[in-house]
Amino acid sequence: MAESTDSSNVPRHIAFIMDGNGRWAKARGLPRLKGHEAGAETVRLVIRCCRDWGVRYLTLYAFSTENWRRPALEVNGLMRLLQKFLQENEGGLHEHGVRLRVIGRRGDLPGSVRREVERVEAATVNYDSGELILALSYGGRVEIAEAARRIAEKVAKGELKPGAVNEKVVTDHLYAPDVPDPDLVVRTSGEFRTSNFLPWQSVYSEWLITPVLWPDFSESDFQAVIEAYTRRNRRFGGVESGVTKESNG
Ligand code: IPE
Ligand code: IPE
Ligand code: MG
Repeated sequence: MAESTDSSNVPRHIAFIMDGNGRWAKARGLPRLKGHEAGAETVRLVIRCCRDWGVRYLTLYAFSTENWRRPALEVNGLMRLLQKFLQENEGGLHEHGVRLRVIGRRGDLPGSVRREVERVEAATVNYDSGELILALSYGGRVEIAEAARRIAEKVAKGELKPGAVNEKVVTDHLYAPDVPDPDLVVRTSGEFRTSNFLPWQSVYSEWLITPVLWPDFSESDFQAVIEAYTRRNRRFGGVESGVTKESNG
């Protein structure tokens, strides 16, 4: 299993767009929330797979800024599920030294959920065996817009010169500036769109779309994703590694 793949090629950071919970439930004649509950089990599985394969950073798109448009019943159910997930899985974070952090408009979250999230963030802040990054009320455009606003405020106060604003300065004002860009973004359930996920950070990520619905995503799907990634040739606008300017003629 893990031994068959060169560990130096394993992505350092994988981000998942966890999609398909609703369709999974519908196919079984169940309410959508049952799909989200099943999806929470996949989250546990994927956290374990990342640990087993040595993936250091795992980002999970759990709730988008657009998901507030869903019926209140579903939104409330998701918030409750999130709180329950944190309560049930905090022990695992401590046991394995994994730091939790949240990216997104945390002020949008119900007070009790926000307090729970921030309590676990604070309790795990010094861990460095891995990072679990939950995107909650996350929108990529609003992340960039908020960064722009904070940069503008610094410029207005004279703390920053307009000419000094570059890519690094923008990155430094995002939600988690020190987290490396995702090497791989995986979307389950077959949609070919980004749905406002990590637009700044994913410009050179490898993307992988699988038809598997999130609650059905298994350990062997995880392995297949890693193996597909290791076969990709990332060039970052350059030429294949090992090919020099001269030999490329
Ligand atoms: C993803 O599953 C989970 C969230 C967006 C919270 P969906 O709920 O979007 O499932 P589908 O797309 O309706 O199948
Ligand atoms: C993206 O899925 C958001 C999350 C997985 C949290 P959606 O189901 O909300 O995306 P769209 O609406 O199909 O683009
Ligand atoms: Mg969906």
